[in-house]
Amino acid sequence: MIRNLTLLATAGILAGGIAAAAASDDPIADRQMMMKNTGAAIGTLAKMAKGEMEFDATAANLAVRTMNNAAIGFVHLFPEDSMEGGDTEAGPKIWEDMAGFVEKARAMETVTADAIAFPAESLDDVKEQLGKIGGTCKACHDDYRVKKS
Ligand code: HEC
Repeated sequence: MIRNLTLLATAGILAGGIAAAAASDDPIADRQMMMKNTGAAIGTLAKMAKGEMEFDATAANLAVRTMNNAAIGFVHLFPEDSMEGGDTEAGPKIWEDMAGFVEKARAMETVTADAIAFPAESLDDVKEQLGKIGGTCKACHDDYRVKKS
């Protein structure tokens, strides 16, 4: 597991800048911002899938790259002292089972990396990516996020 974490950290550095987040002054705000960006990014794919936005290969590609960056950096923003505060919706299970949490993030990292390697060339591709990526969001949220509203 330690090896996996090291690999993740290395990938974060390669992805550019996100590793700095490990020493964040406000990890709760930073991880929430990362998830907000992730929500906006998947929203772009969802709008295309629903026909509310025209298929745009560049926008789709940017969206999956945003999500891939988040998948890599996110897990570094959960120090022990950030379990509470800032209206966090992070569930206690994150700290009870960090390895399981990291696995969920890796699933999101894998499907978004696939989407970068094989960029969407059609609306059908976008729909397929949306399904695969969306499944990894839910898989983590079900266990590790406690919705407050
Ligand atoms: C590895 C686990 C994990 C994965 C994967 C994940 N999330 Fe999250 N998400 C969380 C946690 C934990 C929070 C709560 C963070 C907090 O409040 O401190 C959250 C919060 C959010 C929020 C609320 C942000 C805010 O504060 O306004 C949105 C939106 C969101 N996630 C969207 C997504 C989408 C879309 C995906 C998939 C593309 C995704 N998440 C994948 C764990 C995950």
